[in-house]
Amino acid sequence: MNLPVIVIGAGGHATVVADALLASGRQVLGLTDPEPARHGRHICGIPVLGDDSILKNYSPAQVELANGLGSLGGEAMSLRRRVQEKLEAAGWQFCNVRHPAAIVSPFARVDATAQLMAGCVVQPGAIVGKGVIVNTAAVVEHDVTVGAWSHIAPCAVVCGDARVDEACHVGAGAVVRQGVALGPVTLAGAGAVVIKSFAGNGTLVGVPARPIEGSE
Ligand SMILES: CC(C)(COP(=O)(O)OP(=O)(O)OC[C@H]1O[C@@H](n2cnc3c(N)ncnc32)[C@H](O)[C@@H]1OP(=O)(O)O)[C@@H](O)C(=O)NCCC(=O)NCCS
Repeated sequence: MNLPVIVIGAGGHATVVADALLASGRQVLGLTDPEPARHGRHICGIPVLGDDSILKNYSPAQVELANGLGSLGGEAMSLRRRVQEKLEAAGWQFCNVRHPAAIVSPFARVDATAQLMAGCVVQPGAIVGKGVIVNTAAVVEHDVTVGAWSHIAPCAVVCGDARVDEACHVGAGAVVRQGVALGPVTLAGAGAVVIKSFAGNGTLVGVPARPIEGSE
């Protein structure tokens, strides 16, 4: 039987995570947030219980966690990763977040801690790594690899055989052309159309996408 869940974070991404968990029938006990002003508020009808120290009132045998920290690349992305890795090292289990309206091929390989939001599609042969977010209505086409901690933002499309390495952000509505490889820590801006592979550690914007200053 599934354990109840506490969502780490209480911002925008946490709201979508909580909603997906509720829609998939999970019991959500609460959310955490470092900001005292948010404690006691309700999100999707669920209380913000306090900061992460409230976890001392629970045990990993009783409760699973879900990562509610969002990311647009850069520092926020590494915070999302650091917080989860620290809690995992302390023995906590992060649960699967899969909205029932996510369409996921049984021939895709999806890490148990990836988050698949409403309306997304993950096609056969795709590999979706640890901590990845495939956000609302995003498409991960056949045989695509999405590396750990990357975020495929709402309505982005990663076409067949493309590769998105670790810790990338493919912005809202962006398209990554088939076969293109994005190296680690690539940030593709909203609406970018990426038609050439990119080594990583930089930002691409526009149609066709080009590196912004400092990213060549
Ligand atoms: C690419 C992005 C990270 C740049 O943000 P930033 O570092 O704050 O950069 P700025 O807004 O200062 O813009 C820098 C330059 O890039 C241009 N630019 C920024 N975003 C762009 C985009 N998506 N498409 C085209 N050009 C863009 C700006 O016009 C500006 O050009 P200029 O120097 O000629 O004036 C950001 O605009 C973006 O697209 N983020 C992704 C948003 C997203 O996916 N949201 C989903 C959340 S779930």
